[in-house]
Amino acid sequence: SFQRDIYSSLRPPKFPTSAARWEALARDKLPSDSFGYIHGAASSGTTDAANVAAFERYRLRPRMLVDATRRDVGVDLFGTTYASPIIAAPVGVQKIAHHDAEDATARACRSVGVPMILSSAATRTIEEVAKANADGHRWFQLYWPKPQCDDITASLLARAKAAGYKVLVVTLDTFSLAWRPTDLDQAYLPFIWGDGCQIGLSDPVFNDYYDKLRSEDARSTVERLGELMSFMKRPGSVLGAAKVLANVATLQKSRAWLDVMNSGTYREWAHLKTLKALWDGPIVLKGIQTVEDARLAIDHGMDGIIVSNHGGRQQDGAVASLDALAEIAADEKVQSSGLTIIFDSGIRTGSDVLKALALGAKAVCVGRPYMYGLAIGGQEGVEHVFRCLLADMDNMLGNFGKTSVRDLSRDDLRMVPLTK
Ligand code: FNR
Repeated sequence: SFQRDIYSSLRPPKFPTSAARWEALARDKLPSDSFGYIHGAASSGTTDAANVAAFERYRLRPRMLVDATRRDVGVDLFGTTYASPIIAAPVGVQKIAHHDAEDATARACRSVGVPMILSSAATRTIEEVAKANADGHRWFQLYWPKPQCDDITASLLARAKAAGYKVLVVTLDTFSLAWRPTDLDQAYLPFIWGDGCQIGLSDPVFNDYYDKLRSEDARSTVERLGELMSFMKRPGSVLGAAKVLANVATLQKSRAWLDVMNSGTYREWAHLKTLKALWDGPIVLKGIQTVEDARLAIDHGMDGIIVSNHGGRQQDGAVASLDALAEIAADEKVQSSGLTIIFDSGIRTGSDVLKALALGAKAVCVGRPYMYGLAIGGQEGVEHVFRCLLADMDNMLGNFGKTSVRDLSRDDLRMVPLTK
């Protein structure tokens, strides 16, 4: 095991073994705008901070004198058994962390046995990532284009299916890109956001779409965005969020402001039937934060949800994702429905994983930590981060006195008040 490799070595490992140190190394290594984008959060940052702090309030109750020498960390999701309850969250534009981008993540996930969710805002195509992931487990995440662009949705899903992606993850919490001061202050937007889709620039379908847009309108979204970005970069002009606000009037005149800030995806629950018609595998809604929406997911025939607030990058001032999980997983309708619950936002250690599983998640996704791994060591860095998290979790499970992650339940936790 990875734990044994590390403990039996007389030399320190090539990369550090804690999330805080991966972050610190990535901060040193990356340009400040790229690091800021990965690390950043919506507005005041309180959702992001609450996500991590929530793990402090749920405490594990370890049991002694249990034979837990042989342990199983495998989980069953949608009829498939996976060796790891940890999944690589969909993270867009990975090229900003490392030139091998999503290919490195796909190879690392395969070699460590972690399922990968490919973002539709990737810097590699669906097919390239499938090739790099080979016989690994891969799922596809969709930023759901507007109803007027159903042809794009159909094309993306057909390509994902043909390239061996088994589960469709539909991200709902990014109606439009949030107010993110770190990026605004550096005039940084590593992708194009328009017409309800985050655009993976290397995606041929999106490029075709842009050709179409361009032919219809000389001032395409791309050009308009370019105009906005160059406007924001002008020396002494709009370099900070406050200045952006002060210049709203000017931006509105250029039309760019409205196009960028109002490029939300207009979608509602009834539209899910069009997705069901386009995808015959399991569908998982990502970004569910309330019991009400979890119940609606059941009513609309969804197979699973990812309780997530996008790592605090979208809704500012939101409830911690772990608290949302506790609320949703305790609901009787949710429990009796068989809806699969996956969790993300704030997982940094093995015990964090155990807490989320004890609260009712079947698996968890991890975002920023593996992006820091990618930044510090490419494929090797991503492998390292997942190996560390899995070894830490396995170790904690043994110390906790359990032989399987499937045996964790709410009784294994106690809620404690915050001491700070
Ligand atoms: C994300 N996330 C995300 N989610 C998604 O559905 N599609 C995407 O393209 C992206 N892109 C993205 C980029 C970056 C740089 C980050 C950090 C995150 C959100 C991601 O899937 C996940 O919900 C969070 O990262 C989980 O929180 P932690 O683990 O980062 O705390």
